[in-house]
Amino acid sequence: MDLEMIFEFAKGVLESDATGHDWRHTLRVEQNALRISPDDLADEELAVVRTAVWLHDTIDDKVDASQRKSADDVVAILSESGATTAEVNEILDIIQNLSYSKNLERKYELSALGQIVQDADRLDALGAIGIARAFYYGGHKGEPLYDDSRPRAFEDLTEASYRESSSVINHFYEKLLLLEDSMNTVAGTTEALKRTRFTREYLEQLYNEIDE
Ligand code: ADP
Ligand code: NI
Repeated sequence: MDLEMIFEFAKGVLESDATGHDWRHTLRVEQNALRISPDDLADEELAVVRTAVWLHDTIDDKVDASQRKSADDVVAILSESGATTAEVNEILDIIQNLSYSKNLERKYELSALGQIVQDADRLDALGAIGIARAFYYGGHKGEPLYDDSRPRAFEDLTEASYRESSSVINHFYEKLLLLEDSMNTVAGTTEALKRTRFTREYLEQLYNEIDE
């Protein structure tokens, strides 16, 4: 696979994104993925992980419609870069099914490499960076920081209703604090537990400050 070609394709799509799915998010997810990958991954497997990371948000419907790519565009660039049919299928399967919203109503069984990519993406929604992204995204969407509405239970969320969150703080309860229990890899779980502890401490401090 011509990794450089895929890297530049994805960078071009995400460079100017302002929804929190920007290119730096992708680079952090790549770092996370490298950190939690087992040492004995073959070079071809690592290439699938890195490629899936770079491409994972390029077809996301939260990315601005003028920039967003279709699955067909992704297949085209992968084929052009020399990916095998098996690699194209696996990468497409990963990026179409890894998101939190896609896994609300049923848990999709990703490949082992896909599970690494999903954990790496989820880690970037946690800890200090995850908190920053939540407020950034909420601001972009015009959500209040917090309000009097109650967060919805996981069981009541659907792919469509998840998108209509009432406040940024509700989002913590509807997603961020739940991620630690749904990680795939051991290394990903260890880091998720750490970051979630920090996220809870942040909420505690916030409540102390805003207590009316
Ligand atoms: P996924 O990529 O799994 O679909 P999202 O797209 O929901 O996850 O999340 C992308 C980023 O935006 C994450 O950091 C997430 O926590 C944040 N985010 C998503 N929805 C909201 C929301 N309603 N309010 C605040 N932050 C959100
Ligand atoms: Ni992502």
